[in-house]
Amino acid sequence: MVTGGAPVVALDGPASSGKSSVGAAVAAAFGLRFFDSGLLYRALAFAALDHGVDPADGPAVAALAPSVSVEPGQEGRLERVRIDGRDVSAQVRTHEVDRVVSAVARAPEVRAALLIRQRALAEGGGIVVAGRDIGTVVLPAADVKIWLDASAGERAGRRALERGIDPASAAGQAILDEMRRRDGVDGGRAIAPARPADEAIHVRTDGNTLDQTIAAVVAAVTAGLAAGATLAAGGRTTGGSVIAGGLTTGAEGAER
Ligand code: DC
Repeated sequence: MVTGGAPVVALDGPASSGKSSVGAAVAAAFGLRFFDSGLLYRALAFAALDHGVDPADGPAVAALAPSVSVEPGQEGRLERVRIDGRDVSAQVRTHEVDRVVSAVARAPEVRAALLIRQRALAEGGGIVVAGRDIGTVVLPAADVKIWLDASAGERAGRRALERGIDPASAAGQAILDEMRRRDGVDGGRAIAPARPADEAIHVRTDGNTLDQTIAAVVAAVTAGLAAGATLAAGGRTTGGSVIAGGLTTGAEGAER
């Protein structure tokens, strides 16, 4: 293990793939802390809007990073966000922040400033960290790397239902269009694009209930930790593998 016994789990995947709810449940199952790194990007996006700073102005947005802090809420979950001491945990999850956060996250200055913060939060291990580039860039020595994914249609449908919108309506279609746009920006940016690490275990969640996905990720983490222990003991393990979420079988590279 990279951290002398306290495991580090990188849980990456696209928008609305369930990283936050699944990650928190999996962390609780293993007695680990949980941190969703998207919160830091969201906090900076909110701070930019709040200060009248252009979200695409990387240096100006990065200069706001010292004003952001993250604290534990319930059960070791690092979920309370403050800007200059003011609790903005609810404001960072709004539609306005959704619209500009990809632009904030593509700036190299922002990514450099938040890289240090994320590593500091994960120090000491014993944590599940959710994000887009945790396994590839932020914590490349993580003990287990998971890539949680579902088709864009499935993810947009979940997001629509959460907001009380019929996925088949025009508003539902707008959510799908926005999801595809964000996937394009997050996956296509020059620095730390959203992508699975080569050795990541893929968990596809199309058609799953939340409980099925949690069970699939718990199984993947258990398998990943066991494989790491085998490797540490001088054995061999294979590279990335695919675990179909829950009871379904998932094909890689399905429609996005
Ligand atoms: O997961 P989320 O929707 O809360 O993420 C918000 C934005 O932050 C999204 O545009 C991707 C970006 N992000 C990132 O670039 N790297 C991370 N490790 C986490 C999030």
